[in-house]
Amino acid sequence: MTTLTHLECAACSKRHSSGQLQNLCDCGGPLLARYDLARLREIWPRDSLAAGPSNMWRYGPALPVSEASSIVSLGEGMTPLIHARRLGQRLGATNIWVKDEGMNPTGSFKARGLSCAVSMCVELGARKLAIPSAGNAAGAMAAYAAAAGLEAHIFMPRDVPQANFIECVAAGAKVTLVDGLISDCARIVGERKAAEGWFDVSTLKEPYRIEGKKTMGYEVAEQFGWELPDAIFYPCGGGVGLIGMWKAFEEMEALGWIDERRPKMIAVQAEGCAPIVRAFESGATHSEFFPNARTAASGLRVPKALGDFLVLDAVRKSGGTCIAVSDEEMLDAGVALASDEGIFPAPEGGACVAALSQLLASGFLKSGERVVIYNTGSGLKYLEAYGGRFPRA
Ligand SMILES: Cc1ncc(COP(=O)(O)O)c(C=O)c1O
Ligand SMILES: [Zn+2]
Repeated sequence: MTTLTHLECAACSKRHSSGQLQNLCDCGGPLLARYDLARLREIWPRDSLAAGPSNMWRYGPALPVSEASSIVSLGEGMTPLIHARRLGQRLGATNIWVKDEGMNPTGSFKARGLSCAVSMCVELGARKLAIPSAGNAAGAMAAYAAAAGLEAHIFMPRDVPQANFIECVAAGAKVTLVDGLISDCARIVGERKAAEGWFDVSTLKEPYRIEGKKTMGYEVAEQFGWELPDAIFYPCGGGVGLIGMWKAFEEMEALGWIDERRPKMIAVQAEGCAPIVRAFESGATHSEFFPNARTAASGLRVPKALGDFLVLDAVRKSGGTCIAVSDEEMLDAGVALASDEGIFPAPEGGACVAALSQLLASGFLKSGERVVIYNTGSGLKYLEAYGGRFPRA
């Protein structure tokens, strides 16, 4: 299946071999999977995809798993790409599309990353997995670990959406609710993992969640007939989905599947937690820890991301931008997307709709440009956040 050759540090470019469980480079940088794309270009024409499975494993040759029997799949990926005509009409734009990641197993795009990472844990022999999570990654980890028969140790903020807590416990995970943020959860996993024998599945601290997430980039290209959109809106917590898509575009160009044109990458954050927006506006290459992070979009409550420099680099190279919206705006926009299009988004998806309306109004985007909004999760997982708007008599 795979043509994985090695891992490469995104910070110092050091080469690491890929045949064993691995976290960060000795320099502290995240490791990225590298493939034999020249060979793949010879043997893997894009037209052959149609014969593959209708989930993200159709891109198997550019994913890290070598034995099909290692794959732990619940049908993730190949999510709908929906032309949002009525939303577009309201905003004065004709070419707006929603990639609805809420349709994934466990109701968010996190299924892609965890399907890939847990499959690699099976392949490389990890038995006890630990994860710090803002919520949805925990739910996905619990589900895929259950499907693989592995132990899942989950650390998430005490105030995560109830859906995230219940789905984890139901799937048999060992859940610890932490008085703090995902950064505090990550610290606890880091302190305890050696003694407990846990493999740390923190995003970007292991090299394969990003590989699953990058399939969002492969898919949008395939679904548009190998022509990328003009702009992509992505709600950035850790930003790994955006980094993954950017990596996918590079790989697809090397495969000869797409040309050198890239979408403007637009990183959307919450006003109550906008470290990457701040760094973008100040011209910095890295972000600073964002104090007192708060937002209803729990997935965006990441005060400092390990891959911030990769997000900023991709956004700048693409001619995109970073923008923050308020909780009020994202929830209003989420309800608007539901009533315009029948897609009830996570507040993170709502944030992208709110950001789109601002960038159309400011003229940053033109009305005919083809724009894709990533709705990264289902609104059904955020009933507390939306509940205040819909009191029952
Ligand atoms: C619904 C949702 N959207 C977006 C994100 C942010 O993901 P990323 O790490 O790719 O920025 C999360 C992370 O928890 C999430 O749950
Ligand atoms: Zn390094």
